[in-house]
Amino acid sequence: MIYVTGDTHIPHDIHKLDINNFPQQKAMNKDDYVIICGDFGGIWNESKEELYWRKWLKSRNFTTLFVDGNHENFDLLNSFPVEKWNGGKIHKINASIYHLMRGQVYTINGLKLFTIGGASSVDKENRIRSISWWEEELPDYAQCEEGLNNLEKNNWQVDYIMTHTCPTTILNKITEIFGFQPKPEDAVNKYLEVIEEKCKYNHWYFGHFHEDIEVDDKHTLVYEKIIRIDNI
Ligand SMILES: [Fe+2]
Repeated sequence: MIYVTGDTHIPHDIHKLDINNFPQQKAMNKDDYVIICGDFGGIWNESKEELYWRKWLKSRNFTTLFVDGNHENFDLLNSFPVEKWNGGKIHKINASIYHLMRGQVYTINGLKLFTIGGASSVDKENRIRSISWWEEELPDYAQCEEGLNNLEKNNWQVDYIMTHTCPTTILNKITEIFGFQPKPEDAVNKYLEVIEEKCKYNHWYFGHFHEDIEVDDKHTLVYEKIIRIDNI
């Protein structure tokens, strides 16, 4: 089984994965996955509380996968070992928490998944560099290039795309159709628009905007919902 959900901002929004809110985990095991679409928040300052939540996730009946958002400590995240896993590169946080790195294609339980995290923090003026804000929140040129190359190798065809933010046209749609003001367009939206135009895929899941909205039949903004993606 593979489920996808939105930002967990450990410790604030991790409770959506507890047994009451996500009882499906009773029938799951470590070969089943929950994918978090960025702002995992569990790689921040190595506090006791943070380590508790990582251990808690390890004790769940699933393996946790996360795309990075804009609220992650990138110095710390990049200090974890890089390993090859299911066709793409991961940071292995512990035995059952893996960071799905930028520009990667994985094959998970037979499904092809493209991931690229990152987005701009709208409140970065109020944050402190390398303490609560990292310029690595935006993918760099090499990561973007790696993404395009990996999609090319897969003939621009995957089953799912998982990101933190979304393509520009989807950002505009959210405003126009749902009257919901998301964050201003950033460089990642523009890059994702290139992928939107060129890549064939079944569905795109993203987080960042802290709402649950079916934007159209191909794009879902996810936050509190936990959506199964391998049975449709
Ligand atoms: Fe967030």
